[in-house]
Amino acid sequence: MSITLSALLQPLAQQQPPLRELFAAEPGRAKRFSAKACGIYLDYSKNLIDEQSWQTLQQLAAQSPIKQLCQQMQAGAAINNTEQRAVWHTRLRQQNLSNLSLDGEDIGAAILACREKMAALITQLHQQQYIGYQGQPITDVVWVGIGGSLLGPQMAVEALTPYHCSPVKLHFAGNIDGAVVSDITQALNPATTLVIVASKSFGTEETKQNALALRQWFQDAGADSSAIAQHFWATSSNIQAAADFGIIEQHILPMWDWVGGRYSLWSAIGFPVALMIGNDAFAQLLNGAADMDQHFFSTPFSENLPVILALLGVWYINGFGCQAQALLPYSHYLRLLPSYVQQLDMESNGKSVDRAGHALTDATAPVIWGDAGTNGQHAYHQLLHQSQLKVPADFILPLQVSHNLSDQHQRLAAHCFAQTQALMQGKTLQEATAECLAQGLSEQAAAALAPHKVSPGNKPSNTLLLDELSPYHLGALIALYEHKVFCQGAIWELNSFDQWGVELGKQLSGPIYQALSGKTSGNFDSSTARLIAHFLESRAA
Ligand code: F6P
Repeated sequence: MSITLSALLQPLAQQQPPLRELFAAEPGRAKRFSAKACGIYLDYSKNLIDEQSWQTLQQLAAQSPIKQLCQQMQAGAAINNTEQRAVWHTRLRQQNLSNLSLDGEDIGAAILACREKMAALITQLHQQQYIGYQGQPITDVVWVGIGGSLLGPQMAVEALTPYHCSPVKLHFAGNIDGAVVSDITQALNPATTLVIVASKSFGTEETKQNALALRQWFQDAGADSSAIAQHFWATSSNIQAAADFGIIEQHILPMWDWVGGRYSLWSAIGFPVALMIGNDAFAQLLNGAADMDQHFFSTPFSENLPVILALLGVWYINGFGCQAQALLPYSHYLRLLPSYVQQLDMESNGKSVDRAGHALTDATAPVIWGDAGTNGQHAYHQLLHQSQLKVPADFILPLQVSHNLSDQHQRLAAHCFAQTQALMQGKTLQEATAECLAQGLSEQAAAALAPHKVSPGNKPSNTLLLDELSPYHLGALIALYEHKVFCQGAIWELNSFDQWGVELGKQLSGPIYQALSGKTSGNFDSSTARLIAHFLESRAA
């Protein structure tokens, strides 16, 4: 692109009429700026766009490599160019897997075989026919993984709580903090516990250490290597490393180079979800995502949910200089969605160079944050409403719910809609003064208090209404955010599928660990050296 995005968008952003005016001028605005697909209704009318800016953004999408990159992705080209890998997570949720090959390998058959192996293990566990080394059925599964090997399954398991049907309990061990495994092992019995080590690389330190601690727990309980083999499974693309750990080949669920960690929920990394909701419901999760893929691949950009969300994101980052994006699910069950999308978006697009390694001139991914509504209303919404920051927010609300406290659901919805309305319209000084006077304040007291009650408004938000929070709709919602991130990466012309930035911290932790273990003294900057010294002193005390 010859002109930078900020140079193109900033002048337009500055001319944007206030939202109050736009709504007053166009009664049909909500209909004009809304779209629906796969049971998800998107109202994007409360965004700082008018016909002119929206046309410009549409042109931006048309001129971007989105279409071309989509075609390359589907064809299996190595669009993850720095790692020379295809990007085929969408294939994992496809129903028709015939004639699907990559580099001469029958991928369709491999995906089917993996699904069948997962399903068989789940059936065995559900029927309490998986027997442990002391002859008792397995009652607990510990899933060991981190990043993309944890966030997706943990979020989806939580989101689909009303669909849980497993007699087996599930536990997640991600953080290397020993408190995690320590708590888990205190509560469980190795004889009735199955451990699944989820690591595409089988080289991630956190996962390895947690897996080793769990293996030690078995050994301490008298389990020999064959007992351990019976109780340990893995999902990994590094069969050799898993085998070296002591996991037999029959207990390895495959992963492939063409699935990125943060896009891997649809592979055997989704095992915890399938375990908890059952194989049929898991298939529905895949179907929802596959339908969103079809919507994304075949719908004109003006009606295309991922493209719309992506353009709005680019508009705020490059046009308005926004650095953050709030994700506010008005659903207790979706409370982990922000952490999941954090990795999806920030690890994918938090980059400073383009696909060819040249410095990017425009800012990219936002800081994603948020939590379940209405909790946030009593915490950080104050900043959303009255600070000088502009933080675009996505509000997500399922329409149908599984519980029967319907009045509470109405109240939840009322708060969700009220927040978007308040952010959009704000409260003027005149309105605030009138309110104070109506409450019986003197003119002097009203004049003193009113400025504190002013909300500038004109703060943008999207509202996404899910018909319900079913496996199907969750699948569609996740795929929607995946494709949004994909489109933004295409517009910024960067590689959304690598994550080299996380390596430096990993590299530096090695020598520091050596120093903390007292094995070397190392050569560190003065701050790091003093931190190490404090740690060692506390150990010696
Ligand atoms: O360190 C980042 C990362 O590579 C993520 O991209 C990935 O999801 C996570 O670590 C876990 O990787 P693995 O599945 O190989 O253990």
